[in-house]
Amino acid sequence: MRAVADVTIVHTVNPSTVPGLTTVTRAEQNDRRHLFAAYPKIPGAGPLSRALASAVDGQVKPFVKATGRTRPQPGADIPELNVQWSLTAAAREIVGVRLVTSQFMGASGGVTRETLWYDGVAGMVRPAADLLDGRRGLNGMVRQVRSRIGTEANPGQVTPDPRTFSSIAFNEAGDMIVEFSDFSVAPGSAGRVAVAVPGGAYEPLLSAFGMRARDAALDTQPSLALGSPTASPTARSTAPRPLPRTDCTRAKCVALTFDDGPGPYTGRLLDLLADRRARATFFVVGDNAAAHPDLLRRAADEGHEIGNHTQDHRDLSRLPAMQVTSDIQLTEEVVRNATGRSPRLLRPPYGATNATVGAVAKSLGLAQVMWSVDPSDWRDRDARLVADRVVSASRPGSIVVLHDDHRTTVDAVPQIIKRLQAKGYTLATASDVLAARHPQPGGAYRNG
Ligand code: NI
Repeated sequence: MRAVADVTIVHTVNPSTVPGLTTVTRAEQNDRRHLFAAYPKIPGAGPLSRALASAVDGQVKPFVKATGRTRPQPGADIPELNVQWSLTAAAREIVGVRLVTSQFMGASGGVTRETLWYDGVAGMVRPAADLLDGRRGLNGMVRQVRSRIGTEANPGQVTPDPRTFSSIAFNEAGDMIVEFSDFSVAPGSAGRVAVAVPGGAYEPLLSAFGMRARDAALDTQPSLALGSPTASPTARSTAPRPLPRTDCTRAKCVALTFDDGPGPYTGRLLDLLADRRARATFFVVGDNAAAHPDLLRRAADEGHEIGNHTQDHRDLSRLPAMQVTSDIQLTEEVVRNATGRSPRLLRPPYGATNATVGAVAKSLGLAQVMWSVDPSDWRDRDARLVADRVVSASRPGSIVVLHDDHRTTVDAVPQIIKRLQAKGYTLATASDVLAARHPQPGGAYRNG
């Protein structure tokens, strides 16, 4: 159990302060596996984007291979891979990205922690161990860690192998945080093993790059200088008036819902919706939303609904109530800070829910919204196919699940709207479609 004031919590930078940062997601939602991986893409740091893509690939490919085509037994848990990211630094010419990969394979599983550092001066990605001054730095850090590590770990497994030191970052106070992947220095049951090494102890062990990384991470006015920052892809010069709510007891309504964003195509999607006077619902992932409060604000201003899709997109049905609560509350905070309003609707990732998730949703005043139309847009990246499936399956009160992190899905939207409007449908929010059912906190709803 982690204490409330855990000194090993890594200091992170608000991603919305980095000009032009976008997020890349890879997701699969089916009955063989649950997969969600996200990482940032930062203008001017091409080698970092490629290294992050390759690090995520290194987790995703073996998982997809291992889960293959076999379906778990009915009632058994579905294997899950989840990669979440945070910025450990984004200042001067330095970026740090921490990836935390949680893997669940039925009986076994564990968490991998890795922090990649980007040196914009050299245009090079460096592993965390490069913060230390070669062999001397590694040997010195082994001594520091062994003397501080908890009793759950085996100090003998802390060796001067750069791969063991896969994640090095800093906390708010300027201590160095050395953290390990599960099973690398302790039994898996120990959970996260991390130590905080104070400045006086680690400073003599830093490489020249390590000193620059430390100074960037602790910069109190972080400003990234990697050449030409691009403008955020969200802004539209004129703010359209918000569309009015629809009374779906009188109008024939369909709700388009967009999960897993916001992402690089969300700004264009908002343009398309505004041009066609269509409203939609965005079930946002908190990690992505934190990078794009401007997009959330714009969507809310234009009359769309923002729903909660949790902070990290974990399968909630396998998590304890406390973690379910914090995953939902963190995203609620991101949405409230951006729009001034809290979401009323929750979409559990993968639609995976149970009595615990229902009880937490109830306690937080959230109705759970599933879907009745799924064109599998994450799998079939074909705008025409996606549009055809949505239009042919839609009925009055349908709730359609889409993912705005795919370009092909956003490409399908003009067709979907045009053809549904031609059939007399109004594109409304999930809350409007569900209004006549008076959705209750904790309840789960598939359509209006
Ligand atoms: Ni999702």
